[in-house]
Amino acid sequence: MATLSPTAPSQLCWCKSSTFLASPLLAPMTQKLAAPPAAKGRSAADARGVRCQATSVPADRVPDMGKRQLMNLLLLGTISLPTAAMLIPYGAFFVPPGKRGANDGTIAKDAIGNDVIAAEWLKTHGPGDRTLTQGLKFQGDPTYLVVEKDRTLATYAINGVCTHLGCVVPWNAAENKFICPCHGSQYNDQGRVVRGPAPLSLALAHCDIDDGKVVFVPWTETDFRTGDAPWWA
Ligand code: FES
Repeated sequence: MATLSPTAPSQLCWCKSSTFLASPLLAPMTQKLAAPPAAKGRSAADARGVRCQATSVPADRVPDMGKRQLMNLLLLGTISLPTAAMLIPYGAFFVPPGKRGANDGTIAKDAIGNDVIAAEWLKTHGPGDRTLTQGLKFQGDPTYLVVEKDRTLATYAINGVCTHLGCVVPWNAAENKFICPCHGSQYNDQGRVVRGPAPLSLALAHCDIDDGKVVFVPWTETDFRTGDAPWWA
């Protein structure tokens, strides 16, 4: 029985049919090995034995293509499932909180991300209070909820982003104004600009109550503070 045992490993190469063939230097020997089996009545198993002897791997230990594909699928599943489990929450992070639809508005969120319940809010926020919540726009723009003197929520909310360079403007209860710490712009208690360099008043949003929750809806009507069209719409 012919074997390739004298052949050095470096003289062997791998072909698509998953069998080892001799390098060009050994082509004559390969031809010899390929032709005789049928002629001499040797079975295909004998032929496989010859090839396997060349690599010193028994025929029954060579993995077949089906097993390889199964292992590849298992590996793919092992990698893809945890990856998807990480990517889905990561993607959800960029979905605006409380987003319900283009016309439904956005549920206001408090400082720790809970929905603002109007009745609960009014228990802890007195007349004249202006406190920031998470409001409209993609990143949940800081938006002031306004409590009127009669201890009800105003029908408008005030966007807290300064119209100069975008700082968040704090409410100064002692001055009864919003005063920007960055360059000193000032806005009255309804967010109308009263001192520059800010060029425009703070943006508005409608403040509705839906099923007990505070909902911000985009303000597209005339700005009641100036009589002008809303610059932010
Ligand atoms: S960013 Fe507010 S005054 Fe400049």
